[in-house]
Amino acid sequence: MTQYRTVSEAVQRRMSVRAFKPDPVPGAVVRELIEAAARAPSGGNLQPWVVHALSGQPLAEFKALVASRLMDRDEPEYHVYPPNLWEPLRTRRYQVGEDLYASLDIPREDKLGRLQQFAKNAEFFGAPVALFFSVHRDCGPPQWSDIGMYIQTLMLLAVERGLDTCAQEFWSVYGKLIHGFLELPQDHMLFCGLALGWRDEDAAVNGWSSRRAPFDEWATMRGFD
Ligand SMILES: Cc1cc2nc3c(=O)[nH]c(=O)nc-3n(C[C@H](O)[C@H](O)[C@H](O)COP(=O)(O)O)c2cc1C
Repeated sequence: MTQYRTVSEAVQRRMSVRAFKPDPVPGAVVRELIEAAARAPSGGNLQPWVVHALSGQPLAEFKALVASRLMDRDEPEYHVYPPNLWEPLRTRRYQVGEDLYASLDIPREDKLGRLQQFAKNAEFFGAPVALFFSVHRDCGPPQWSDIGMYIQTLMLLAVERGLDTCAQEFWSVYGKLIHGFLELPQDHMLFCGLALGWRDEDAAVNGWSSRRAPFDEWATMRGFD
């Protein structure tokens, strides 16, 4: 399995993978990733992340439960996107959706086709491992940011080991179901899930790269040579 040894290589290689091979990931590797990612920084060293990992039978049971309640969505406990998204964020969000569906030749009019692709979120895109990240309800934006750093650290460590990931806010509308399944404490809320496994290199959905806005759109530098 290819190993990506520098951080730059891992950053370049990482992408949201939306088709995985079914091959299992050893529990020891998953544990190592979860533990090593906790070297991520956090304000005041609060380490506010709480992680739950599922594979094998528990993951199969979870997926079966979700399949039986797929239309039974909850009101998300947080805004996944700000209401009335403004420019240029609005266009960026639209563009990534269009690029994704274009990679699969699913046109705008094919609402069912797009829905079917979206519904693959519920299967963790075929990944053999599912992670969930929850946070204490009293935590605010700084701690959510800490959890983001934790997740990115884990994603890059996964790439180093030849694995891939897709973070999933999709799960925010199944907060109650996940709360019950994972027996999360009442004072915790779900942030997101994450699919983890081996990339299917042949899948068209993995064969494109999301765009990035040009540097000058979002950064300035002053006082340099
Ligand atoms: C917190 C978070 C939640 C996300 N939720 C989803 C999701 O539910 N489903 C999905 O297909 N992609 C999801 N994504 C992936 C983003 O769409 C993706 O990161 C973005 O388009 C940039 O593409 P890249 O990750 O391939 O570089 C999520 C990413 C993040 C960071």
